[in-house]
Amino acid sequence: MIVHSLADLARARGALPGTVGFVPTMGALHDGHRELIRRAREAADHVVVSVFVNPLQFGEQADLERYPRTLEADAAICAAEGVAVVFAPSVEDVYPRPLEVSVSTGRMGRVVEGAARPGHFDGMATVVAKLFGMVRPDSAFFGQKDAQQLAVIRRLAEDLNLGVEIVAVPTVREPDGLALSSRNRFLAEAERRTALALSRALFAGRDAVPDGVAAVLAAAQPVLDEASKADPPLRQDYLVLADPATFDPVEPGHRGPAVLAVAARVGATRLIDNLPLEF
Ligand code: PAF
Repeated sequence: MIVHSLADLARARGALPGTVGFVPTMGALHDGHRELIRRAREAADHVVVSVFVNPLQFGEQADLERYPRTLEADAAICAAEGVAVVFAPSVEDVYPRPLEVSVSTGRMGRVVEGAARPGHFDGMATVVAKLFGMVRPDSAFFGQKDAQQLAVIRRLAEDLNLGVEIVAVPTVREPDGLALSSRNRFLAEAERRTALALSRALFAGRDAVPDGVAAVLAAAQPVLDEASKADPPLRQDYLVLADPATFDPVEPGHRGPAVLAVAARVGATRLIDNLPLEF
């Protein structure tokens, strides 16, 4: 069932007995989303998927306008995956008036990806908090692909006691390593070839884990440097080895979990990827 208004969502949600697993999305669903939905189906009695391109988390108007909108195809995927309710509200449904109160994600929302996209995590966390209030799920499913988003949402749920269990789902990759993303559809063939450097750099970094933090960065960086000379070139935003809970950079000699995260532009498309590592 597809619903648009908050009133219809409330009715549909009220008719769902048992537990609800929630998969918030911005649409343009791909196999990575299917995996989130499948995990939610295993864990809960019913699954609700939201499809909403949230203007609050976009810096550039052009990026917001360019974001793919494919509701009909998304609804078909949800039906095939046994989703109980697809919630596809309009901007006016979600933001009927300018917000007076919103979520601040603090320092962890301003570092790494947050430094490259000021305001992004505040806008993302604000809509996720609103969607949690609208859908009232027991659990919510997020891809490891957006590792910093996942970390911010975990803190959102804990710090504000939202009563929603946050479940991380591993990144789904193409056979050649490219992480699935709604933005991949913008890549021309040659751009896609260059974009493979992101995952290749991460895998090179992973192979150097036994040699420590500096070795991981030293192994990953040359892969990106090489791709910056390709045609079309990769333009690196960052390559960091961060604490997966705070996104602060890890110190040399670090022991325990870390996330190797990369962001780069290829042509007009900005891509991110990461690998969780254990030192
Ligand atoms: O990951 C996304 O698609 C979005 O950031 C989310 C979580 C649906 C919030 O708009």
